Amino acid sequence: MDGATEIGFERMLNALKAVGEETRLRILALFRTGELTVTELVTILRQSQPRVSRHLRLLCEAGLLERYREGTWIFYRLAEGGPEGELARAIMRYIPFSARILQHDGERLKEIKEDRKGRAIRYFSENAEDWDRIRSLYVSEQEVEKILLEVTEDMKIDDFLDVGTGTGRILEVFADRIGRGTGIDLSREMLAIARVNIEKANLDNCQVRQGDMYDLALSSGSMDLILIHQVLHFADDPSAAIRETSRLLRQNGRVIIVDFAPHTLEYLRDEQAHRRLGFKDGEVIGWLEAVGLESDPVIHLTGEALDLSIWVANKKNI
Ligand SMILES: C[S@@+](CC[C@H](N)C(=O)[O-])C[C@H]1O[C@@H](n2cnc3c(N)ncnc32)[C@H](O)[C@@H]1O
Repeated sequence: MDGATEIGFERMLNALKAVGEETRLRILALFRTGELTVTELVTILRQSQPRVSRHLRLLCEAGLLERYREGTWIFYRLAEGGPEGELARAIMRYIPFSARILQHDGERLKEIKEDRKGRAIRYFSENAEDWDRIRSLYVSEQEVEKILLEVTEDMKIDDFLDVGTGTGRILEVFADRIGRGTGIDLSREMLAIARVNIEKANLDNCQVRQGDMYDLALSSGSMDLILIHQVLHFADDPSAAIRETSRLLRQNGRVIIVDFAPHTLEYLRDEQAHRRLGFKDGEVIGWLEAVGLESDPVIHLTGEALDLSIWVANKKNI
């Protein structure tokens, strides 16, 4: 906790008491990566919902976890700010993850994550052919694309990365502004369509390949501009995806995230495998700043059914 804000005796005691119990320590350990719902925790811990909820309440009251509601879902995650958040992360560093019980929990957590990822993969494999129509349902693409070009006008872009490229539309938009373009996506079906589109449009400087936004398998500091266009709402750990993106940026590089503003179209979870119903400005800014990126003011676009936000952040010279 170097440089940490002092926590105060009572608050520290409270936080340590909260975590000084077997199930609650197991719960804390599960938050090493990402956000979880009560239902997911119940599945992992194999305890009743009221018991798990009670443990979560105690951890939240002690300031170690935070809870937020989005539609009918309630998410929990490690507290982001404050001394308790720092304490939670400090405790995390000492948790013996090799202990058998934590290994078991970790395996069940992995299954849940694989299942979620599977849902997104299935959705896109079933809808790849139709994606270009679906993507235009909620927002004016032309308006977004115009803004994307405007906010990068000042840049010399040798290396460009499109995370979750889908059918490769964003590569097409940037192709004549960049040296080389790479699109990465989990879905083979989407990539198959992206390849056809790239060939049709003669984009000799662009290529796509399969990969995961959490582990992009590219060299650190190798990209000038990275786009994450309508992908973050599928992420169960958006902050980890942003961290990975930041790793790849060169000094003076820029990342642009385009995603929905908070909304209430709950059916998108079931029908289109969305994990999050949009993001608040400050939530994404917090993740960007946590990895040392400097955020510009967020751009907002009003759509017929959904509003859109555009976050632009820069990796400044240190
Ligand atoms: C809504 S589409 C957007 C595609 C494209 N960016 C566009 O705007 O047309 C989301 C894309 O993210 C991809 N995706 C979802 N989870 C991913 C992950 N963990 N890593 C890489 N791509 C992912 C999906 O396969 C899908 O092609």
